[in-house]
Amino acid sequence: MTDQGTLEFDNARTEAEKLREELHHHAYSYYVEARPEISDTEYDQLFRRLLELEKAHPELRSPDSPTQRVGAKPQNKFETVGHTAPMLSLDSTQDADELRRFDDKIRKALGEGHEPTYLIEPKLDGASIELVYEDGVLTRAVTRGNGREGEEVTDNIRTIPSVPLRLRTQDRAAPELLAVRGEVIMYISDFRVFNARWVEAGGEPYASPRNSAAGSVRQLDSHVTASRELDLLVYDILAIEGSGFKSDADVIGAIQQWGFKVPDRIQSVGTVEDILEYHAEFAADREDLDYEIDGVVIKLDDLSARLAIGVTSHHPRWALAFKFEPRQEVTRIDKIEVNVGRTGVITPVALLDPVLVGGVTVSRASLHNREELRRKDLREGDTVRVQRAGDVIPQVVEVIAHEKDRARPFEMPTECPACGAPVYEEGPRIKCPNRFGCSAQLQGRIVHLGSRSALNIEGLGEETAALLVSEGLVGSLAELFDVRPEQLMEHEGFAEKSATALVEAIRSKKAPELQHFLIALGIPEVGAAVARDLSGHFGSIEAIREATAEELEQIDGIGPRMSQVITAFLEDERNSSEIDAILARGIEPVASAPVGEDLMDAGTAVFTGTLPIPRASAEAAWRAVGGRTSNTVSTKTDFLIAGDNTGSKREKAERLDVVILNFREFVAKVALLGGEVDVP
Ligand code: IVH
Repeated sequence: MTDQGTLEFDNARTEAEKLREELHHHAYSYYVEARPEISDTEYDQLFRRLLELEKAHPELRSPDSPTQRVGAKPQNKFETVGHTAPMLSLDSTQDADELRRFDDKIRKALGEGHEPTYLIEPKLDGASIELVYEDGVLTRAVTRGNGREGEEVTDNIRTIPSVPLRLRTQDRAAPELLAVRGEVIMYISDFRVFNARWVEAGGEPYASPRNSAAGSVRQLDSHVTASRELDLLVYDILAIEGSGFKSDADVIGAIQQWGFKVPDRIQSVGTVEDILEYHAEFAADREDLDYEIDGVVIKLDDLSARLAIGVTSHHPRWALAFKFEPRQEVTRIDKIEVNVGRTGVITPVALLDPVLVGGVTVSRASLHNREELRRKDLREGDTVRVQRAGDVIPQVVEVIAHEKDRARPFEMPTECPACGAPVYEEGPRIKCPNRFGCSAQLQGRIVHLGSRSALNIEGLGEETAALLVSEGLVGSLAELFDVRPEQLMEHEGFAEKSATALVEAIRSKKAPELQHFLIALGIPEVGAAVARDLSGHFGSIEAIREATAEELEQIDGIGPRMSQVITAFLEDERNSSEIDAILARGIEPVASAPVGEDLMDAGTAVFTGTLPIPRASAEAAWRAVGGRTSNTVSTKTDFLIAGDNTGSKREKAERLDVVILNFREFVAKVALLGGEVDVP
């Protein structure tokens, strides 16, 4: 290297190191402390500058660089690795007397004159994980597994933004080796959004935020994990080189200093009465929390006393989980009816004898589709187990009893219950064809238009949309922009304040971002990724409407089938006049600057075997979410999508450790990336 070159490299290295420090710090302020110090745009600028430097000098790319959170190559399987120290379980009870006996034993063990101090904290219902840091850098993350060994999921854990890639060392030096234990969780609000999308895309619903957190951690492709909103809360040190801690409170303090997020409301108490009070308070607040807890954990604070008291093969004797009542109950299906969604899909719903499940009354549960109904064989009059695991949409788990003269299996309707149009079948689904005349579909489209990824209009939920439609205030998407507060105030549920707030919220969206506007229109195939590409490429709604199929196909990822679907939608006379009508209300979508390509690459897929849809359609769906396709398997291949009767491509893919997805998994993956595969 010339002197000039060395100098340039040295400068780049210094700058990159500084940028990394800054980015780590800002990620910490944002995700751990929830006190951002700079705007998202400023953060992006720093991030892009670092990307640039690392692109010019790939040697600078270190595993703890903030640019390396997402992007690891998918794996074919997980390695099983041993834990640094056993990840024990907890002894648990729901009985206050047992808690008293636990306290008695601890007191006896401590001996006369020694009062125990306990740390009490929420028992988080997530996926337990070990994180290992060597010289302050995250080197390994392992699922709990059987407690002695688990699966190595480092690439996935790195994608969680609150996970430090390197320890903060401002207040405490990094030990040579540190293994911490924590819980990966998905917030209930994020879970609801995620699960609804997942089910809409044809996935089996996840039963709880915990299942979806655990499922997300165990994805072979870390891009999938990255696409889910996860958080990590750390509550224990499993192993450390040279500790010197005297109490659990010290441990928690150190964990915080190193930059981890710890559970809320950790408290130090001395008596069973304090614990009961804490437990009761948390139980009462449980419904208002955005994360799932299934009890509280009580731990003796004094670490040397812990050593003396010891552990059994599976749990420590110095800790106890004091659990809450479970959130499953038994009730009866009074009736099964159907619900019509925005795209006309008709879904069966169970009306239940209202029952209190973990503090919330449950009277309805979606049964998802015909298949699920058949598989669980749910019928009117059956006694069933229901659960509500953080989901607004409670689930019917199973039938536990039924009358002798049981109702006949539920038949899906032949006519739309909302508008009477004859339904048609599309794979396992039944749909109402009456897009413009069906009140139920309009209601669904209004809710969709107001949803977070579309125009994000606060207060425009199911109930409000139902009222707007049934009262005849809104007969099309465009008419939503005409609603006046006085009209709303005539109806129950609206006072002057709420009516004005809703109307303001709607009117404040007169200059939406083009990509959000495109989503709001509900164009088939146009998910977040395609909407962003269309917006970036064409820059205006007019240009998109005028584009021919061929012009649309100039966008990498839009193939002939997708371009047909989009142009067919936009050219359809009624859709077109609806868009005209919306624009005539003074709505002016604005295109934002296109984002860097580095951040959007779904990987290269090769398709093989007999797929349930034409291969060209599957390939188009993949390209539409930012993927590339190829006909040959090579080291550059990220995924093999395998249909039935596969041959040499599959063998080669196996040899090269390429991730192999079946069709169903492929559909789910596309959905996660914001696209859609038309499944027969
Ligand atoms: S302490 C040796 N604290 O509950 C002590 N565990 O049923 C080990 N959990 O597998 C655990 N929140 O994953 C502890 N605040 C907390 C916890 C917690 C959730 C999980 C943990 C464990 C399970 C035991």
